[in-house]
Amino acid sequence: MDSLVPRVESLIGRGLTPHLTVIVVGDDPASQVYVKHKVKACQRLGIRSSVMRLPSSVPESELLDHIDRLNVDPDVHAVLVQLPLPKGFDEGRVVRRVDPRKDVDVFHPVNAGKLLLGDPGLEPCTPKGIVALLDGIGCDPAGKHAVVVGRSNIVGKPIALLLLRRNATVTVCHSRTPDLGAITRQADILVAAVGRAGLIKGDMIKPGATVIDVGVNRVDGDKKLYGDVDFDSAVSVAGAITPVPGGVGPMTIAMLMSNTLEAAESCLTL
Ligand code: GUN
Repeated sequence: MDSLVPRVESLIGRGLTPHLTVIVVGDDPASQVYVKHKVKACQRLGIRSSVMRLPSSVPESELLDHIDRLNVDPDVHAVLVQLPLPKGFDEGRVVRRVDPRKDVDVFHPVNAGKLLLGDPGLEPCTPKGIVALLDGIGCDPAGKHAVVVGRSNIVGKPIALLLLRRNATVTVCHSRTPDLGAITRQADILVAAVGRAGLIKGDMIKPGATVIDVGVNRVDGDKKLYGDVDFDSAVSVAGAITPVPGGVGPMTIAMLMSNTLEAAESCLTL
């Protein structure tokens, strides 16, 4: 992540301090932790950060007004609405309100559409982080069979697109896929992003496969975080495997920083 510092310095040298604003509605405990990590990463790099905390009782119209104001604020380059929103909010409507140029999550349909078409633009943080992890260990997806377990808009669908762009053969599985193991055992690269603790056991993994665990699951009455992969049975089968916590999470934060800089840089080139 420290490799981003020269980009921050260059922006500041040109009179622009990159600025990320995070909106948090309500008091979801996991969200508080994630937001703290985001603010810390900004501080480490010299990126300005603001956190707007709103009570869960805030009317959706007021939340949308706040987003509208941030959209036109020239001193704010990136806007992120922390999910999940409390019950009763229309998440789709809220995240679509963020100006696509400031949408560092890549949730806006314009940005999601560009991703689908392969047009230049921001890439969503977790999928971008996964590709960076693969590059970091010299794992070229080209020609490999990548199996993605999970079909969310935030990870499953976009990571499938990014891996396809890198010439992998991609299979997307999900909670209704019968005999999941028969498919995951074919994976040279296995991305687990379903949100079910320990779903992927060692005997569902092809020996030597690269396993990326995106799961961050809490199990009742237990403070520990669990991935979607049963690490203990998987570690001796996989060729490489990401731990939870500490694998994909920090990469997501690093890519959020990178996207914030990209959004700020494009203000200078307009
Ligand atoms: N909640 C958990 N992960 C994320 C993320 O990547 N973006 C947003 N906006 N909310 C999240």
